[in-house]
Amino acid sequence: MHGIVLLGAPGAGKGTQAVLLSKVLKIPHISSGDLFRENIKNQTELGVLAKSYIDRGELVPDPITVGMVRQRLSAPDCERGFILDGFPRTIAQADALDELLRELNKQITIVPWIRVREHMLLERLSHRWTCRDCGAVFAYESLPPREGCKKDVCTGMLYRREDDTPEVQARRIRVYEEQTAPLIDYYRDRGLLVEINGEHTIEYVHHLLRQVILGAEAVQGR
Ligand code: AP5
Ligand code: ZN
Repeated sequence: MHGIVLLGAPGAGKGTQAVLLSKVLKIPHISSGDLFRENIKNQTELGVLAKSYIDRGELVPDPITVGMVRQRLSAPDCERGFILDGFPRTIAQADALDELLRELNKQITIVPWIRVREHMLLERLSHRWTCRDCGAVFAYESLPPREGCKKDVCTGMLYRREDDTPEVQARRIRVYEEQTAPLIDYYRDRGLLVEINGEHTIEYVHHLLRQVILGAEAVQGR
């Protein structure tokens, strides 16, 4: 079983890499940010509540976030494993995840930390375009092509996330440093952390991740 937690600052490429890994490993990609955006799009009660925090670049309170992820991780498609992207984001969430995984008889097997310097994070976030329909992300320095999303057969419209304004980007990076970066030591102390240089191309970062994840599996199975 793969129990993967992807750590990394906003714009490090967690979502991009999780999509690729999910295809290769055939396990679901669970992004707390995507789950929130889906709820916002559908105007659910949870979405309305979360939006006020997301728009400011603040974290949604732990009880709401943990409840949402609990429900997702309990779904049958997580039987063979999971890739968590954007969760946990606080020590309290990491403790809650441990408890939840114990209940579900699952475990974290590896925590890749995708490391990217701040100037590059800001550059990537300012070029990111997201598909309204399927959530795929693209990088365009100026306007995206008119035909919109080209992922598989999707033709969804591309948009800039509301939390990708320069002010909110900077706030998200500060919040990451204050509240999420402590998880690096948290997982290092448990021997689960693996550092990945996220400044390479998307393909090469994927290659590095496959190496460490499949390597960890080989060691586990010994
Ligand atoms: P969330 O959606 O999780 O955003 P994030 O963590 O800020 O991460 P991003 O999605 O911005 O970046 P990413 O690392 O996935 O990068 P990507 O692959 O897109 O969270 C949004 C908000 O929701 C939070 O601020 C918070 O309010 C709330 N929230 C979510 N989870 C929460 C939780 N657990 N608790 C409380 N609140 C929570 O890549 C970025 C760009 O770079 C793309 O354009 C991509 O094409 C490009 N790119 C990627 N890799 C490379 C590469 N190697 N080389 C060149 N370009 C690259
Ligand atoms: Zn699309």
